[in-house]
Amino acid sequence: MSNNKKLYIKTYGCQMNVYDSERMADVLSPLGYNLSESGEDADIVILNTCHIREKAAEKVYSELGRLKKLKNKRLEQGKSTIIGVAGCVAQAEGEEMLNRAPVVDLLVGPQAYHRLPNLINKIEAGQRGLLEVDFPAEDKFENIPAAESDRIIARGPTAFVTVQEGCDKFCTFCVVPYTRGSEFSRPVEKIIEETRRLCAAGVKEITLLGQNVNAYHGENSVGESWSLGRLLYALAEVPGLERLRYTTSHPLDMDDTLIAAHGDLPQLMPYLHLPIQSGSDRILKAMNRKHTTEIYYDVIERMRKVRPDIALSSDFIVGFPGESSEDFAATMQLVCDIDYAQAFSFKYSSRPGTPAADMDDQVAENVKSERLTELQALLRQQQQSFNKTCLGRKLPVLFTGQGRKLGQLIGRSPYLQPVHADAPQEFIGTIQDVEVIAVGVNSLSGQCEGDRTEIELASGGQVNQPFREGATAL
Ligand code: SAH
Ligand code: SF4
Ligand code: F3S
Repeated sequence: MSNNKKLYIKTYGCQMNVYDSERMADVLSPLGYNLSESGEDADIVILNTCHIREKAAEKVYSELGRLKKLKNKRLEQGKSTIIGVAGCVAQAEGEEMLNRAPVVDLLVGPQAYHRLPNLINKIEAGQRGLLEVDFPAEDKFENIPAAESDRIIARGPTAFVTVQEGCDKFCTFCVVPYTRGSEFSRPVEKIIEETRRLCAAGVKEITLLGQNVNAYHGENSVGESWSLGRLLYALAEVPGLERLRYTTSHPLDMDDTLIAAHGDLPQLMPYLHLPIQSGSDRILKAMNRKHTTEIYYDVIERMRKVRPDIALSSDFIVGFPGESSEDFAATMQLVCDIDYAQAFSFKYSSRPGTPAADMDDQVAENVKSERLTELQALLRQQQQSFNKTCLGRKLPVLFTGQGRKLGQLIGRSPYLQPVHADAPQEFIGTIQDVEVIAVGVNSLSGQCEGDRTEIELASGGQVNQPFREGATAL
């Protein structure tokens, strides 16, 4: 078997898809497939798709149109190309996609990609139109070979580790419970083992992933159920691990241990992505979010008590069915009260099969657009002023790679801001003190201390500095 076949994976959607794409590459590597930067010369092209908002499926179909041309061109040169669709659109469309786009050789859902080698073998033996969208009983993570250390190093000093998948919350707007299935937590030991391996290969920062990562309740080797907080305390002990993050959290699952971990663990970065979606309790109820604004304010208050410098982030949906101008004003008020360091906001997008798609009072497109513009202007202003509070400060920056300009590196601050600084190549993969000398809305520029100072895990002692000007006292 040839060992230099090429695999190209195009990834859409959330970080779990990024993680899954890496695992797909790992699972196909023993078959002789190596990752390629482009689809042009690939023997396998996989689209790892996202179904969260409208037109997702349409985008995939138009991409498949392009791939059909590519496949035909390669065929003229006597080369075959396997086209696969993975991820949440594959799960949602299933058979229909195979009928509508015969160029697709295989469809594989997010819980079944460990079966890819089997599917590829079948295709190499002449079969076509294969479908794997069941939620299999076996654990996909158990059936994927661990990434080799050179592959880990090539991916850089930051890594994702999926610890929890699926969702049982059924917000009325969301497709995730249908595309990813019900909640599932990986066993404690498996996560610790994966983290150890990544850190032994040189990874410094681990982000734990889950659709509801803080609903984590994995078992340890003696059958005890661990919360995310407890898992974080254990992971902080892993040799070589310097930074921990987790995403995405649900406000209902922010328990005391998790909040305490933010005060206790210097490795746990002062950044929390905690989506609320709307500032109106009436809308939260219609969304079936199962939490009120009061619960959210309370979590934020407790979090700021243990980690006053925490950078907060959220997701917002504007124009959910029935959202009045008062409801939207409540969202704007909540944003003013919380004062975010960063946030994502979207127009409500009707998803077939979800309860909200059938609700009365769908909001007009132009109203959604106006509200989104207004909200984004406020969030942008908050992001800018958060960045300004960093001006002149010394932040520990984990350098992750080459910057755009010659001699420049890019890294990330504890608050997840991208930071550019002139620095020598060998600083990649290390944490350095950087003095912030300029700030933009989306990134910071800094000056390196110069010498390779030891890493200051106490995040530069920021814990006790109430540095956020104008932050609302909650
Ligand atoms: N599990 C996470 C979010 C998963 S989806 C949570 O509960 O917070 C990521 C984000 O996409 C959501 O937070 C929401 O803001 C947005 N989103 C999901 N469905 C959407 C829809 N139908 N229309 C618009 N935005 C949506
Ligand atoms: Fe979707 Fe809600 Fe589950 Fe988040 S909690 S994945 S928004 S259903
Ligand atoms: Fe998209 Fe699926 Fe993630 S729908 S956001 S890729 S879980």
